[in-house]
Amino acid sequence: MADFDAPSDACNPGAGLFAECLVHDWEHRIQAAVDFHELEQARVELLGKNGLLTLELKKLGNLSIDERRSVGARLNCIRESFEGLFQQKKQQLDELELNERLKQEALDVTLPTRPITTGKRHLLTRISDQLSSYFCSRGFLVTSGPEVDSEFNCFDGLNMPSHHPARQEQDTLYLKNHEQMLLRVHTSTMQIRTFSTKGIPVRGISTGAVFRNDAVDATHTPLFHQIEGFVAEPGITMAHMKYCLLDLLSFLFNVDLCAMAKRGDAIPVRFRPSFFPFTEPSSEVDCCCSRVNGELKLDMGGTWMEILGCGMIHPNVFKNCGAETFEDGTPAQGFAFGIGVERIAMLKYGVTDIRHFYDGDIRWLNHYG
Ligand code: DAH
Repeated sequence: MADFDAPSDACNPGAGLFAECLVHDWEHRIQAAVDFHELEQARVELLGKNGLLTLELKKLGNLSIDERRSVGARLNCIRESFEGLFQQKKQQLDELELNERLKQEALDVTLPTRPITTGKRHLLTRISDQLSSYFCSRGFLVTSGPEVDSEFNCFDGLNMPSHHPARQEQDTLYLKNHEQMLLRVHTSTMQIRTFSTKGIPVRGISTGAVFRNDAVDATHTPLFHQIEGFVAEPGITMAHMKYCLLDLLSFLFNVDLCAMAKRGDAIPVRFRPSFFPFTEPSSEVDCCCSRVNGELKLDMGGTWMEILGCGMIHPNVFKNCGAETFEDGTPAQGFAFGIGVERIAMLKYGVTDIRHFYDGDIRWLNHYG
């Protein structure tokens, strides 16, 4: 409690008179309170039910009417001024307390940092990003499109007529109550979207999720990822396509296939004739791979694995996009290719089950992230 000299009787002459010096003593005591507890104690002693001033006010009833009027007015005036003083002091203590708290809770920027526990990018994101920057540096436009698309962008535009088996419900996930809308089965939709909106010449890629009505097993999931690439430029031939894909595979698997080809060495990559409705001629590309100490190597001693589909873009595709000729009037031409991102990741990192990509097992994610 703060130093407080108890009021002397000498200061309090006369009944019912709350003497001036007593008022000063109490004012001093209120001002001197160092915490809420002291302040409250003073309030109870002065203004509480049995407080000094309350008792003085109770005594008013014993006085004559005239005395009651003048003494009452004075005592009420004193009470009001005390109440104001208590209020003021309370605000002052509130502020002190707040300042103290702010001081204690201040950030110490010199403290050492905690170990960083941020997440890692998913393996599939990493491969997609790597491929995007690879193609970006070679002048390809990096495009992206919706996962829900029209039958036209997914099939008709790509020269896949309505009787094509991929259009049956057992392969494709259609949207209920939205006729002709579906979850895209491939990123080739981006050929249609890009040729129709940007026209030709154009070279671009697009990565993203695609969907098939497949049962889940070690090599199938209803959702997986693809990268679609397309080049539509005057003078483009299959030779450009082959060079582009050999350079891509060299980047992916850390070999120089183009140098090997120039030297006349046998290259562990083969273009196998195939069929896609949107390319003519079409081809599938296989790599000859083996695994040495867990690492994938492209060499002739391994086994042949299919890695991507490609071909020269079918003239009907350009026609369906209203892009039949280049500016100089020569017919539209170009090549396209499609790659499964999971397939690349599985080959490159020896992942044996496609379900691992989606299990969300933190140990797996930490290892491959
Ligand atoms: N869209 C094909 C698929 O999902 C992949 C593909 C093959 C894309 C050949 C192409 C291509 O652009 O030329 O299986």
